[in-house]
Amino acid sequence: MYGRCNVLLTLFGTIFAIYPYFDTQDFIYNVPKVYRISITLDKLLEHYETKMSKDPEWYIALRMARGQLEYTINELDKSVPAKLKENLQNISRRMDRIWNSTDFTTLVYRSKDYEYVAKAIFENIDVFSSLLEPITIGTMGTQKPFRFNFEQYVQEAKTKMPSRKAADACTMQLLISAMETQTTQADGTCELSPECQTQLMQGSGLAFQQTSRVRAMILSRVFDCMEGVDLSALIYKLCIQIYKETKSLEAWDHPPGTRTLFMQQILLCASQGYGEFIKPRWMNKVISWQEPKGCYADDRQPFLKLTGFVGPASSPPPKDSEEEYRVKKAASSEGGSCNSLTSAMALGSLVMYVRVLLETDQAFQYEVLV
Ligand SMILES: *[C@@H]1O[C@H](CO)[C@@H](O)[C@H](O)[C@H]1NC(C)=O
Ligand SMILES: *[C@@H]1O[C@H](CO)[C@@H](O)[C@H](O)[C@H]1NC(C)=O
Repeated sequence: MYGRCNVLLTLFGTIFAIYPYFDTQDFIYNVPKVYRISITLDKLLEHYETKMSKDPEWYIALRMARGQLEYTINELDKSVPAKLKENLQNISRRMDRIWNSTDFTTLVYRSKDYEYVAKAIFENIDVFSSLLEPITIGTMGTQKPFRFNFEQYVQEAKTKMPSRKAADACTMQLLISAMETQTTQADGTCELSPECQTQLMQGSGLAFQQTSRVRAMILSRVFDCMEGVDLSALIYKLCIQIYKETKSLEAWDHPPGTRTLFMQQILLCASQGYGEFIKPRWMNKVISWQEPKGCYADDRQPFLKLTGFVGPASSPPPKDSEEEYRVKKAASSEGGSCNSLTSAMALGSLVMYVRVLLETDQAFQYEVLV
């Protein structure tokens, strides 16, 4: 596994320096905000340290967040208070403890395709968690929320591809090709079938259909799939659309089931370098959504069905329904209304905020952006 990681790192490991400038010390005004986030993170991780999640997405987010956090800690400016640094180090250690003590054979997967996807990501998790894009502001434009209402949005999303099942199938195809290219060391390049290319390039610009496409594009870029396609430009275009949607979800006052999507949008596009997704107002929302017991809850299932991402149109064969049942059971067994994916997105987005609030001299601008 580590041999393969090294190969990957040398081939694709574009690790950017994240401190291009430190002319001003504006970021220091963000220290109280980071304290506030660290309390939230600590409580969230404490919950999952005692109540193990069985959801692979939680562990993917956990490891990715740890990568961002370790980098942030290593690059901290000297003027950051020692106590805050210690807080962040403790959070990172807790992430390690959770990861180290997890029995990965007990995780529950929603389908065979998804199992392959999650395991391939785990196998390369050290590579993914060391990829950092520099954060900039000023490329997203002043996007306004949609003019239609939430009901119209849901209807629109429903007609769009891909479904979660179709997205899983193409992500699996992509990773199988990428892994083959890695292990055989042959001249073969990572390839996608025309159907999956179409899904990635022409799929929906809404809801989870859209975020699943961004994730697949990020994977394609890491593994150098889809030769001749400017994936960075596509991700940029999609993040502009997403920015509009994130603002719309806020304008609609976060309908049930959409908090997970909101945080996933922040996580995905901020991690691609788009600083517009960093707003103290959004940070305060994410913090305020934490359940008293530390986890995050969001009744996603009705929303997923309404938007057609899962449901009759993509209803799984009997064997898969059994899996679905086990996934649901595993999710509810982790205590009350906690939802691992929602918690995973909260974890990931909050750690992005920690990094961005401490790293850049543009930090003061996040206050005035609307
Ligand atoms: C960090 O963890 C250590 C050991 O558990 C503890 O003694 C210390 O008080 C913690 N630091 C902070 C700032 O919470
Ligand atoms: C987790 O495991 C790694 C590798 O085995 C080890 O280096 C590290 O000290 C462990 N961390 C904790 C907090 O248990």
